Parts: sequence; structure tokens; C-alpha cells
Amino acid sequence: MSSSRLDVVILAAGQGTRMKSNLPKVLHPLAARPLLGHVIDTARALNPKKIIVVYGHGGEQVKAAFRDEDLLWIEQAEQLGTGHALEQAMPEIADEDTLLVLYGDVPMLRAETLAELIRQGEETFGLLTVHLDDPAGYGRIVRDSHAAVVRIVEEKDADAETRRITEINTGILCTGAAKMRQWLSRLENNNKQGEFYLTDTIEMAVKDGIPVQTSHPDSPAEVAGINSREQLAELEREYQRLQALQLMQNGVSLLDPRRIDIRGSVETGQDVTLDVNVVLSGKVVLGDNVVIGPGCVIIDSEIGDNVEIKPMSVIEQAKIASGAQIGPFARIRPGTELASNTRVGNFVEIKNSRVGEGSKVNHLSYVGDTTMGEGVNIGAGTITCNYDGANKHRTIIGDRAFIGSDTQLVAPVEVGADATIGAGSTITRDAPAGELTLSRGKQKTIKNWERPVKK
Ligand code: UD1
Ligand code: CA
Repeated sequence: MSSSRLDVVILAAGQGTRMKSNLPKVLHPLAARPLLGHVIDTARALNPKKIIVVYGHGGEQVKAAFRDEDLLWIEQAEQLGTGHALEQAMPEIADEDTLLVLYGDVPMLRAETLAELIRQGEETFGLLTVHLDDPAGYGRIVRDSHAAVVRIVEEKDADAETRRITEINTGILCTGAAKMRQWLSRLENNNKQGEFYLTDTIEMAVKDGIPVQTSHPDSPAEVAGINSREQLAELEREYQRLQALQLMQNGVSLLDPRRIDIRGSVETGQDVTLDVNVVLSGKVVLGDNVVIGPGCVIIDSEIGDNVEIKPMSVIEQAKIASGAQIGPFARIRPGTELASNTRVGNFVEIKNSRVGEGSKVNHLSYVGDTTMGEGVNIGAGTITCNYDGANKHRTIIGDRAFIGSDTQLVAPVEVGADATIGAGSTITRDAPAGELTLSRGKQKTIKNWERPVKK
């Protein structure tokens, strides 16, 4: 599908006033990625020579959002129309190249859909069109009696008969750069909107004897442009619907395909089950037989085979090995590694720590900056005091240590293998291996003590 002579121009200078936003339209997110990012990904998949973005409103902000990408940025200072926008990019494009025009606010177009269009564009002139039940607002494709495309008429310039045409211009087109350069130089703006219409090049091509060939997307959603927040929300649902379908095709069970959100990429093993309202963000890898309960959020993490994540748990930048059980209501923060068959229960927060094989932190604990061995049992309410107000310190807990409930481990501190810590202890110095260490006041009873009474 790639072509070394292909240049992609993404038009993205429009204002997007209907978004009513300080954020430039193309930076509004679809599945947590800016609209323009989706278009760049599609362009990238075609392996072109150059990707040129024509920007205008909010330009600096848009450029900054993609500063790590290999892109050519061309400013269109005044938005004088789509033809004028493309013209700004032409100095960057060689005559012998093929030129593909994409829109920065049409995020769901797939590279596969463009393959035929590009082939047509390399031969003559390729135009991506679609039939819509309600074509209002779009440029109409006018064909002659042999069904050959003769021109595009913008809605505002169309008579009643032309407006009845339901085949519309998606705006996506592809053709040779040399010809396009000539046509653009001949554009005029004597139309209802006083704009230089890129669409006028279609009639010019036909007059030059270059047939305009059309191809079509699988669904209208693929070529839907975003002009308002309602449209963005609708497209988000469609995007998520397609991702849910894809997951199910890959062997994932979804208890309700309408209540799952994928904001990134997901790799899944066999027989994964996702309950309702699961959100997967960034790069998530799920092994075989993973079960994720309702309301869980998983971000940039790797979850091993046979892991069960119970309801309302949040996992970010973590690695969970096979057979682990997490939650409900657990929070696993960045830099955490849970070895196989570990258990992390309710109201437990773990950050930047390694929990060894089979170790358990079952209730109400904070474990931060800790290296924990195998077979450790952390009692309810245990806190690692890892922060002294200025610096973070590590806690080391040896294999098979037993930490009594409500213990504070004041880091830096080490608990040896097979050590036992008595409940309610504040441990400020290393606790030796194999011994019982505790720090607590002696229990006493005060006889005949009387409760205070209200004065
Ligand atoms: C355009 C097409 C119309 C088509 C419709 C599909 C023209 C004249 N009309 O309509 O046939 O049905 O798209 O959505 O081409 N842009 C710039 N600079 C400008 C103007 C626009 O960069 O001066 C960019 C916008 O950011 C957007 C794209 O071009 O990404 C299309 O602009 P928009 O105003 O949405 O298109 P229409 O003129 O409504
Ligand atoms: Ca539009």
C-alpha cells in the first residue's frame, strides 16, 4: 500500500468555532488521542514521503502537541478556503509526486479505505465519496448520463435539483501533484462563500480529459467530520463500538459491549472477560483468562494469565504476573510489580514496589517504595512511611515475614526473612530475621476509672 512518491497533506486550518472551545478543534480528543493524531496515524500507515499539516487557528498549540512527530508544518494565515489551504502546501511537493488530501477533523478514516483511492490518484484522479440519507451541508457529486463525475457543487451554490443528490464529497482526494498545482493556480472565489474551493479542481480535471474515479468508505462514520461536541461524542461512541467488536472477534467476552472504553491499544489473550464500565488506556496487555470486574481502570499495564481484578480497581504502569488477585477497590500505582499468585485486597495502595510470589496485602494498607519477598503476609492497616517530607526511602521485607496489623514501617528499614512484627508496632530500626519484633506500650487497666460527664 505504500508509495515512495506519495505526499499526504492534512488540512487543519479551520477554526472550529462550533466547538465553543479555547482548544483548537483538531486537539479535541477521540479515545484520548487528538483528532489530528488519528489522521496522522492513518497517514503514517501509508508510509508516505512527506506528511504536511496545514495549520491556522491555534497553530502553536497544535504544533506543540505533535512536537515529537516527523511532520512538515505550513501556515495558512487566513482561511480563504480548502483550495487556498492546499495551495500553501504545494511548494513542498514535487511535480512527479502523488498527492493525497486528508482533513484534520476526520479521525476515523482507515488506511485500508485509502488504498483504492491512492491507486486511482496515481492513474488519474481519485475522489472518496459516500451516499448519505441526509446530504445537507456537503458538496454534491454531479455525474453525467454515463455516470461519470463532472463536478462538485457546494450546498450553498446548489440549486434545488442538485441538492437532491445524495452522493456527497468527503473532501478526501488523490491525484498527481503537477496537474493539481496548475488547477489550484486557476481557482477563483466567485461563489457564495467567496472561498477558493478545492472542489473546483474536479471540473478542471474532467475538462483536461482526466477522468475522476470514485471509491467509498465502508461506513459514513469513517468520513464523518467533527464540527461540534455532539458530533464528537457520537463519533466517540461509534469508535468504541468498533473497538468492542474487534475485541470480541479476538476472543474476548464483554458483558456489555456498549459499556467498555478503549483509549489506546489493547492486546488480549484467549478467554478474557471484561465486565461493564472497564476503561483501558494507553498500552494494555491482557493474558489468557484474565477477568476484570466492573468499573476497573487499567492504564499502560501488563496483566498476566489467570489474573482476576475485582470491581473498582485502578492499575497504572504496573506489571501483574499470572494468578494474582486484586481488589475490589485496590489502587496499583506506577512502578509496581506483583509476582505470580499475589493478593492485593480492598483499600490497598501500592506504589513503586515489588511484591514477591504468593505474598498478600489484603486490607487497608499503603505499600510504597518497597521490595517484598515471597510468601509475606502484610496485616491490615500496615503503612510504609516512605516519605520524610523531603526524600523517599525504601522498605525491604524478607521472604515469609509476617507484619502484624496496624504496623508502621518507617523507611529506610528492613525486616528480615521469617521475621514477625507484633501488631500495632512502629518499626524505625531493622527487624532481624526469624525473630519477633514489636514496639508498643504495655497494656494496663485502670481500676475504677470514671468516664467524664458533661458539665
Ligand atoms: C468541504 C468541501 C465539501 C465537502 C466537505 C466535507 C470544499 C469547498 N468543500 O466543505 O465539498 O462535502 O468539506 O466535510 O472543499 N480548511 C482549511 N483552510 C480553509 C478552509 C478549510 O485548512 O481555509 C480545512 C478545515 O480545517 C477542514 C477542511 O479543510 O479540515 C474542510 O473544511 P470545512 O470548512 O469543514 O469544509 P467545507 O467547506 O464545509
Ligand atoms: Ca466540514
